[in-house]
Amino acid sequence: MMVLILVGGFHPEMPYEEIKALGVDIEERDGRVVVGEVEDVEKLERLGFSHLVLKCLGSFGVDEKLPFDPEKYIEGKFAARFKNLGFSGSREEKKEEILEELNPNIESVDLDNPDTTFYFLMKGEKIYVGKLIHRFDPTEFTERKSGMKPYSRPVSLKPREARCWINLSGARGDLLDPFCGTGTILVEAGLAGYNVYGSDSEDDMVSGSITNMKHYGVEGEVRKSRVQNLSKIWNRTFDVVVTDPPYGRSAKVCSVGIKNLYRSSLKEIESILKNNGRCVIGCPSNMGFEKILNETGSVFEVLNKFTEKIHGDLIREIFVLGKTNKKFK
Ligand SMILES: C[S@@+](CC[C@H](N)C(=O)[O-])C[C@H]1O[C@@H](n2cnc3c(N)ncnc32)[C@H](O)[C@@H]1O
Repeated sequence: MMVLILVGGFHPEMPYEEIKALGVDIEERDGRVVVGEVEDVEKLERLGFSHLVLKCLGSFGVDEKLPFDPEKYIEGKFAARFKNLGFSGSREEKKEEILEELNPNIESVDLDNPDTTFYFLMKGEKIYVGKLIHRFDPTEFTERKSGMKPYSRPVSLKPREARCWINLSGARGDLLDPFCGTGTILVEAGLAGYNVYGSDSEDDMVSGSITNMKHYGVEGEVRKSRVQNLSKIWNRTFDVVVTDPPYGRSAKVCSVGIKNLYRSSLKEIESILKNNGRCVIGCPSNMGFEKILNETGSVFEVLNKFTEKIHGDLIREIFVLGKTNKKFK
């Protein structure tokens, strides 16, 4: 199906790569508007960094008529919604024109509870139009952010971000987070339908993760383990690892040495990942992750890499690694 996706401005590249990782073949990218072909449209309901998924009905210019026959697509009562993404024409005038074309009969409009919703994304000299498939409720992720969970710690990843990392892993099957902390990745992956497993070196993080998972109705298994013992403690393999290790800012981790922690993590993760498995891992940008990767003689291939500012002088890198020679698509 041809879809129209409105992504959020959360990161300059990650929302687009997340869409690709869920199987969208992008044909056009115009600012935050993406047009692409996808086979399994339901999968897109798992996206973390997008706002809308629409069935694409085409695009048209300021002086052009609707590119589709509304009669064909309206089921029951309908509503039209407009998003101004930097429209260069006269917005109100064009809106009136569109509504006139759409509204053969005012009885069929229901703005509060429509059966069919058309979205008009007005961008530059173009208007992209689509029929609503999925709208991401902005409060959904807010309800799971740090401070709202029964067990919260400042180290927590944002739920949307966690969801995006999970999607970037091309996640399927069994997912492990070996630095699970408060369980943000486990909760998001569980809600997206994966089998989740976590471990952490701290007792309170292990029990806190379990509390949070129960609270959000996610089943999974969490064990106490230092990452250095990962293969011993699990004694099995996983399809994907998605994880956010410490960044070496706390005295505890500094004493071990942040680079050593990443070296042993990579070795252990490699051994518990299935062939063709993926790992998405965060790290501080000044650590030299790729150098560590080379030094450890790792079989991991860097499939994708992103940078983002966290706060102050802390910049995070996110790596998508593949235990394969095959390129990530
Ligand atoms: C950045 S936090 C992870 C936060 C988590 N993603 C969340 O959203 O809550 C890093 C976690 O690694 C754990 N940790 C530190 N050193 C470890 C080690 N050697 N092995 C396993 N876990 C460790 C800490 O207890 C902490 O919970």
